Amino acid sequence: MRARLREAFRQTFGSDAHTVVRAPGRVNLIGEHTDYNDGFVLPMAIDRAVWIALRPRSDRQVRVRSLDLGGTGTFALDDLERGGEGWSEYLKGVAWSLREDGLPLRGWEGVVTGDVPVGAGLSSSAALELATARAFQAVSGFGWDAVRMAQLSQRAENDWVGMKCGIMDQLISAAGQAGHALLIDCRSLELTPVPLPRGTAVVVLDTSTRRGLVDSAYNERRRQCEEAARFFGVSALRDVTFEQFQAQAGRLSEVTRKRAQHVISENRRTLEAAEAMRRGDADRLGRLMNESHLSLRDDFEVSSEALDAMADCAQAIDGCYGARMTGAGFGGCAVALVAEEKAQTFVDHVTSCYQRSSGHTPSIYVCQATEGAAVVD
Ligand code: GLA
Repeated sequence: MRARLREAFRQTFGSDAHTVVRAPGRVNLIGEHTDYNDGFVLPMAIDRAVWIALRPRSDRQVRVRSLDLGGTGTFALDDLERGGEGWSEYLKGVAWSLREDGLPLRGWEGVVTGDVPVGAGLSSSAALELATARAFQAVSGFGWDAVRMAQLSQRAENDWVGMKCGIMDQLISAAGQAGHALLIDCRSLELTPVPLPRGTAVVVLDTSTRRGLVDSAYNERRRQCEEAARFFGVSALRDVTFEQFQAQAGRLSEVTRKRAQHVISENRRTLEAAEAMRRGDADRLGRLMNESHLSLRDDFEVSSEALDAMADCAQAIDGCYGARMTGAGFGGCAVALVAEEKAQTFVDHVTSCYQRSSGHTPSIYVCQATEGAAVVD
């Protein structure tokens, strides 16, 4: 990847790149739709990433060519306006957000590529944002504070691009740790690395389905959660215990009750999953993942036929501890926890089972937990 990118940089700009930065996509093991409820998530950064080769410019322009999405995005740091190539809005949004926060920025030119599939629920946009933040940091020389960079990238996505996502994707792309998932408290932003249970592998199961209406359904879920929090008189569903919920659930509308039930139970599952990981208890972690899928399917209603088919196939295969949809939902990827020595047969079996039951050809890979955004060269 690095060599190909450096070569493309030479062809585009006629000399060598000074620096290469990388920011990973992520897979979330458990803790779905909890981040914007001030709750807990347990994602890991994966060995699929966005890469940028770059060199500083003497003026205040940014000029970036995308090898995968086509075209070149160009903008002036002192004159940021919306519009232009879709993907370059993420770069511009990050520039805007860093500048608004008072960071001194320099111009640069670069070539971007990546292998995080777009729209698959593996956070290709957060990876692009954090790679951009790293590029600015590399040329402008300000300090790298992973949490702050994640917050500024989230702000770019919320207020420049217009997607009201939570903090999970940006934070794990900024702060991921090799061999570990991170338990993130999305209120305090405390990060606790948790090792993967010995002898297990994490498998990403891409259904090859993509759904267009994710953003509006996502924002609707957020509103429903806020409504539930108001009912309980708290600022976020994080503050409602399962006992409080059960005592009052009968007074909620059916939809609000189901949404709240998912979030409140998912927070509990996520904390328990982190405990299970610390004990190396893959069985328990897997069962919690299965329960999470049911809750997302039946109560939060963000799964899809393809995701259900994938989770059903995976859960039934020997060596699989558990499987669930991952990310916002409605299409994209599921994730499975599998015994390492059975990972290859698992991949073969789940591929044929899913093909048979859904008619789609999936894309399935065993992934490694990697470091967060970094200057790599
Ligand atoms: C998307 C958002 C995240 C999070 C997940 C659901 O990936 O970007 O902030 O809300 O959906 O858990």
